[in-house]
Amino acid sequence: MAREWIVAAGPASLDIAVGLASKLGAKLAKVESIDFPDGESKVKILDEPRNKSVAVVQSLYPPQDKHLFQLLLIAHKLSEDGADVNAVVPYLAYARQDKEFLRGEIVSLGVISHLLRSVGVRRLVTVDIHSAQGLGLFSIPAYSCSAIPLLAEYVSSNYKLRNPIAVSPDFGSSSRVEAFAAVIKSEYVSFRKTRDRRTGDIITEEQDLNLSGRDAIIVDDMISTGGSVAKCAQLLKKYGAVRVIATCTHALMVGGAVDKMMDAGVDDIVASNTVPSRYSKVDVAPLLASYFQTL
Ligand code: R5P
Repeated sequence: MAREWIVAAGPASLDIAVGLASKLGAKLAKVESIDFPDGESKVKILDEPRNKSVAVVQSLYPPQDKHLFQLLLIAHKLSEDGADVNAVVPYLAYARQDKEFLRGEIVSLGVISHLLRSVGVRRLVTVDIHSAQGLGLFSIPAYSCSAIPLLAEYVSSNYKLRNPIAVSPDFGSSSRVEAFAAVIKSEYVSFRKTRDRRTGDIITEEQDLNLSGRDAIIVDDMISTGGSVAKCAQLLKKYGAVRVIATCTHALMVGGAVDKMMDAGVDDIVASNTVPSRYSKVDVAPLLASYFQTL
């Protein structure tokens, strides 16, 4: 018999929690959160689920540290009350710092792993973690679902694509672009990108491509400052692409990211709702529900 779940809606992810609860036929436990004048969070779980299997949904988009701390508070309380706590973190902040790239850097994702475990989280589920190796830093079962096929289905159904090519802006997203291309049945290519770890400057290497008359779809796990997509889009337009669509799971869109990408030739942006924005066209709740149905 399938396990009975209760879904606790963290303050950052009410819509995904509602969708997950509805797909699982689970009861929704709402979480009330207020901010004190100095910015501290006070969190209260309504209809507290004692001794139950609970999926706590809380995405860690900015303000990351606040959302993280709210998640820790909720998980701590539930576990203190005997619940089996499963953290559902659609966007897992700090996942890019999964090793000590430069001497003295802290492996932030390792710290997140310790924190979650220390408040009693027994399992982590996320969506499109930056790199699969990051999952190895967790000492609890940790799993990453992928929204890339859903993004591909959305693009395929909503755009009349002309001889499309799926493009990864760097080798890190090669497997994602391959998965995307399999759904839209297209060719794919990965660019070589290098980033200066001190300044953040990006260099994207040229390719020998003729894209005249073709649509190009850039596929990445996240868009932050838009720099990676912008560099890639400039080249795609230079090679003749008619239209450039940028897709990603996590659209953080920091600062002037959107203008930067549009100025570089991006025509449209499609993202999931792990980070809420006007580009959130794909809902990850059904994806997360499918994962829970296997447990
Ligand atoms: C990097 O390896 C990631 O997959 C993304 O390409 C990167 O984090 C995007 O950042 P930005 O939008 O600032 O270039």
